Amino acid sequence: MARAHGKIILAGEHAVVYGYPAIASTIPQSVIVDACESENPGFNIPLPLGEGQGEVILHRLEQMLGPRVARLQFTVKSEVPGGCGLGSSAALSVGLIRAILERFGETRTAPQVADMALQLEKIFHGNPSGVDHTAIAKEGMIWFQKGIAERIACPVKLSIVVAVSRPHGGTLQAVEAVRKRYDAETAAISCIFDAIGTLTHEMRSAIECGDVPAVGQLMNLNHDLLCQLGVSTSELNHLCEIANSNGALGAKLTGAGGGGCVIALSHHDNQLVKIFNDHGYSAFGFEI
Ligand code: PMV
Repeated sequence: MARAHGKIILAGEHAVVYGYPAIASTIPQSVIVDACESENPGFNIPLPLGEGQGEVILHRLEQMLGPRVARLQFTVKSEVPGGCGLGSSAALSVGLIRAILERFGETRTAPQVADMALQLEKIFHGNPSGVDHTAIAKEGMIWFQKGIAERIACPVKLSIVVAVSRPHGGTLQAVEAVRKRYDAETAAISCIFDAIGTLTHEMRSAIECGDVPAVGQLMNLNHDLLCQLGVSTSELNHLCEIANSNGALGAKLTGAGGGGCVIALSHHDNQLVKIFNDHGYSAFGFEI
């Protein structure tokens, strides 16, 4: 049985596709994959995959890990809400690879697992930046910029609450919508990316010296810039307002946007989880 955790993006989504840095962290919730040899190979439960995607994934896994993959039956359970920007597809990708390696008693380094997971992520997302599956394969909090993935640490715990709005319209679609705006208004959108890049560097410094209020302020700034990019929704803005008017140090959408989740930096995570629940939203808290 192999596990791969979901993830949140603390700063830099969308800009990361254009070569800017991002900060991501794994979350306690996982995708759990069991791989066993069977007369009925393939996926034995329906996955939230597009038409024919299951076959394409199995074929890619066989190319990477050998024809023995064709004998395996995969059972997948997920604690990570799907399509909500919490990395469920990247966690599925990493979980499948880990389960196959475990079944055949083999190991690979985290970067090797991440390289293979990228091949599966391309099936889901076209041309992902790599931040999701790299964070999930490496685990913990990471600084990611194309070609670079470093673990970073905060000397104090960051208390995070995730509130779920509704599944988003798809990462691919959101990334394409930003690409269209970038092509049509390159100067203006580049300014937004530059500002996101600068705040992501500032957030790394704030995290590494344990300046929690500064991390919160930078999350708010990142959310405002994502609004300017056009990837937020009135519901995500409302969730940020709920967080900030109830003592959060900052809040932002996480992931592609257009739905999905908001992350809030909080002092009292249980209290904020309850407040989101009272407003009708599912929420959960954890420390990173
Ligand atoms: O799949 P999501 O919702 O976690 O978004 C991934 C982050 C993006 O920057 C929007 C896309 C990417 O490939 O980095």
